[in-house]
Amino acid sequence: MGRMLEDHWYIACPSRKLKRQPLALEIFGRKLALFRDEGGRPAALEDCCPHRNASLSGGRVVHGRLACPYHGWEFGGEGRLLRVPYAPEQPPACRVKHYPCVEQDGYVWVCPGDGELTAAPMVFPHLNLPGWTSFRMETLFHATVEACLENFLDCPHATHVHRYWFRTPTARPVKAVVRTLEDGAVTEYFQEPREKSLVWSLLSPGKTVSMKHTDRYLAPATSRVDYSFDDGRAYSITSSCTPVDDRHTRVFTVISFRRGWLGPLVRLFFHPLSRIIINQDVRMLNQAQENIEARGGPDFLALEQDVLFRPIMEWRRALRGEGEPPQADREWQVELKL
Ligand code: FES
Ligand SMILES: [Fe+2]
Repeated sequence: MGRMLEDHWYIACPSRKLKRQPLALEIFGRKLALFRDEGGRPAALEDCCPHRNASLSGGRVVHGRLACPYHGWEFGGEGRLLRVPYAPEQPPACRVKHYPCVEQDGYVWVCPGDGELTAAPMVFPHLNLPGWTSFRMETLFHATVEACLENFLDCPHATHVHRYWFRTPTARPVKAVVRTLEDGAVTEYFQEPREKSLVWSLLSPGKTVSMKHTDRYLAPATSRVDYSFDDGRAYSITSSCTPVDDRHTRVFTVISFRRGWLGPLVRLFFHPLSRIIINQDVRMLNQAQENIEARGGPDFLALEQDVLFRPIMEWRRALRGEGEPPQADREWQVELKL
């Protein structure tokens, strides 16, 4: 993966949000205007009209062309100027920068970079699979992508931030096996406690049924947490991070679970419960980011028990052009108490 961070697909918005009106989007600190062309395909243009620099996202869509709100110049999905409503002749050759844009898994994805493009966006596992039920969440964090990813893949914080909701400290030893992969890193946990937590008393089939739990980082900006049980139940949480700027991250989460016909019923309580838990993380990360900004930058200590912190940081540094990603297929064990 020799590409830079920007040369990957990021979620711009859920498909259903992009209708007849254009949308403004900020990604990597760049302002983009999103709209649907004549064929209904999503398109992303730099949000600045070449005429007098008005924001194109404040305009409207006319026959699949994006019309600027100031003097009505109309642009196609590839950014070409197609019509100037007050000039009788062909418009001059003029183009607004456009960005690759596709639709997949119910999201509009955009690639904000100028380099070589990743072939396709990553796929959300389990969406629309028989027996599985899913729901989606969108959350704005005042935090970096790195902080979000690490938080989503960090077990120890759950006994504090989500105490009684998701995890309660038992101080029991837990073994974690960490492995680096071609596209990230994965941790598998063994002998993990599940008692005294609201989530587990609602979702877990009891201590006698064995559970497999893996946390996975997929470069550049995705986390995936999977729980599966012997009796066929399974839960999977995938979060794709879109950097708004270098201090804000918009996170698109798909939660899927295999509970057969009970799925829609489980979703009824699982969805609001997940919202409460994510908001606990939002508060913690927002507050940490305020401290980081007040101090002029992060100053982190990393323990071996912060298992995926280093792989995430090394990958992200490599994708900024600073060093190499961690070598794949290395494996090590870590002892924790949870
Ligand atoms: S500024 Fe866009 S048409 Fe004039
Ligand atoms: Fe959390």
